[in-house]
Amino acid sequence: MTEQKRLDPHSLDIDTNPSQNQEFSAVLAMRLSRRRAIVSGTSATAAVALGGLGLTACGNSDDTVVVPVVAKPTPTAKGKVSLGFTSIAKSLEDKVKLPAGYQFSVLAALGDPLKNGVTAWADDGSETGDSYTMRLGDHGDAMNFFGLKEGKWDNTVSTSGVLAMNHEAISQQYLHPVGESLAEPRNENQAIKEMNAHGVTLVKLDKNAVSGKFEIDKASDLTRRVTLDTEMELAGPVKGSRFAVTKYDNTGAKARGALNTCGSGKTPWGTYLTGEENWGAYFRRVAGDDTNPLRKAEEVALNKRYGINAGSVSFNDKGWFTVVPADAANTHRFARWNASIVGTSLTGTDDYRHEANTFGYMVEIDPLNPTAKPKKRTWLGRMAHEGCWPSNPEAGKPLAFYMGDDSRNEYIYKFVTKAVWDPADMGTGLAAGDKYLNAGTLYVAKFNADGSGTWIELTHGKNNLVAVADTLGFPFTSQAAVLVGTRIAADTVGATKMDRPEWGCVNPLNGEVYMTLTNNNTGRGTTVPVDAANPRDYDDVDGKKFTGGNPNGHIIRFAEMDSKADATSFKWDVYVFGAEADDSVNNLSKLTDDNDFSAPDGLWFDPRGVLWIQTDDGAYTDVTNCMMLAAITGKVGDGEEISVNGQKTYKGKNPESDLRRFLVGPKDCEITGVDMTADGKAMFVNIQHPGENGTATTFTSHWPDSETNAASGKRPRSATIVITRTDGGVIGL
Ligand code: FEO
Ligand code: CA
Ligand code: CA
Ligand code: CA
Repeated sequence: MTEQKRLDPHSLDIDTNPSQNQEFSAVLAMRLSRRRAIVSGTSATAAVALGGLGLTACGNSDDTVVVPVVAKPTPTAKGKVSLGFTSIAKSLEDKVKLPAGYQFSVLAALGDPLKNGVTAWADDGSETGDSYTMRLGDHGDAMNFFGLKEGKWDNTVSTSGVLAMNHEAISQQYLHPVGESLAEPRNENQAIKEMNAHGVTLVKLDKNAVSGKFEIDKASDLTRRVTLDTEMELAGPVKGSRFAVTKYDNTGAKARGALNTCGSGKTPWGTYLTGEENWGAYFRRVAGDDTNPLRKAEEVALNKRYGINAGSVSFNDKGWFTVVPADAANTHRFARWNASIVGTSLTGTDDYRHEANTFGYMVEIDPLNPTAKPKKRTWLGRMAHEGCWPSNPEAGKPLAFYMGDDSRNEYIYKFVTKAVWDPADMGTGLAAGDKYLNAGTLYVAKFNADGSGTWIELTHGKNNLVAVADTLGFPFTSQAAVLVGTRIAADTVGATKMDRPEWGCVNPLNGEVYMTLTNNNTGRGTTVPVDAANPRDYDDVDGKKFTGGNPNGHIIRFAEMDSKADATSFKWDVYVFGAEADDSVNNLSKLTDDNDFSAPDGLWFDPRGVLWIQTDDGAYTDVTNCMMLAAITGKVGDGEEISVNGQKTYKGKNPESDLRRFLVGPKDCEITGVDMTADGKAMFVNIQHPGENGTATTFTSHWPDSETNAASGKRPRSATIVITRTDGGVIGL
């Protein structure tokens, strides 16, 4: 979805953070006061009732560069690698544009068969819903390549592997036959197609020795889909808690499907982490559900904070629950999307009132073991998970996983493992996941005005995360409560509200963490004041698409104290501010026509230390389609302190020619998802939702057919491309 559509009106990127985020001491005082009130006789119910008050607002030589892979690269001084391509121009063409000397091919597009015997994409919406369990899903997003040798993970192999990819959402208008009604009750085949077009695709790839192109092995059982019907296990504190009890599993241990899977993560042990982002918007609750006598106050608070509001239809709500299946035995596939109380049980064993609590997690999938049930790692918190990016592993030291919650004014988190890294765990799949991701500490970030930062622990019983309902109306009765209500816990401890945290990544050369703050078009400067880490509030200069806030976004970075993954403090600065080059006021990083961009989203350090930046923009799309840039970065503190309209902040050294535009996509798309083979010679990138602003009868893009057919009338399709150099050399350098 383009930014404009994402943000208004149909997006959970909306601000659902009502907290004032008072200083910790004030929060503590409030909670102590509340506790005293309860102790002295005020009922818990009354305290909970007060809780409603605060909640209404609301990127030919076969031997020139050896790419370091598994081993941590030797720290390299800036300048040892440098960008080796000429920056390309901005573009509004319905084509993928690359620098001279580069080429791409389409690996697979929406609806393409993944298995032998499945019919080809017909371009008329005639494919059955069920067939999508064997077709590429829609809106390909983050992805990771897992090299394969003799059936085992080998991160040094570049000719064979499993590519795992997310399918974040769908372009509903291009999935069905023209003229087919989307009215409710929904058509069963349509709903199944839409559901199956979500989830995750895993494809075994082999490089054809003759053509040099990757081909999907349709016979391999490593080529498969994970859909919304795939059974998963909840792992960590939320498993078996009251929050996860559903009609599907009265024990609260099982869930079905990874939903709105956005960013990803590749664990040091070789599994795939997929982040559930705007999952809440798929659920509907009837008006009055909050006042149902069976609805607990803690659930009301929880649903409100995560934007699952009674009596409203959210942007991703497809009405799937309205399907009347031909076989009544399939009712459970559809009824689950109605999160209203429809049963009579006290605990939710007879309906799906808690179904939404089984979403919002990082989900671990073993790409090399099709029979391993995916696990939802609840220790990593519940939020609009963008993705999850590990620290550089060091033997004998804990690992950190950095995460962002992508909605306006939400937070940046990290999870620190209790177990210390043992390289012998590489290749051991979900068993390693159980070791590292089922015990540890979750933290949320506070960015201070002096350029320092603090990681605040989100552990039950600490930092006032106690079993007393405060004005937010949610008592932290257990670690399960802290995690299922991660956002509320972060509010409570006074975390810093950010301009929509999207992707993060860790510099392989020095361990510094970078995170995109994509934009905050309406919230910053209005509902939430500017601060040092989110310092901008201005009007979009040309096109005037947005008034106020931070329309072009920025990339923040931080260095952990003493370079320790488990540090509780850090230093930060802003690596680069997005801007239009001709904006004399807000172009703080002095971008030029060669590297100006808006709304950074996807972000990835390749193993050589090149940073790839991808955009999902709505503020500069009058001038250019979305793009990918490459950068050689410096380090935290290499710039200067500046003042932006009176707000002090810290800016990195201007990137100058160390930041270059590498790719521009077709119309109405977002560029997202990026990985390379270990030899650095093939790069996978997703072109997501081309033509998204079109309708079933009026297309705004015909990509990828438009690449070779200027008069194309075909439907636009999200697709994965493979970028190579025409001389067969390494990419980017
Ligand atoms: Fe799925 Fe926040 O982008
Ligand atoms: Ca603009
Ligand atoms: Ca994104
Ligand atoms: Ca985005």
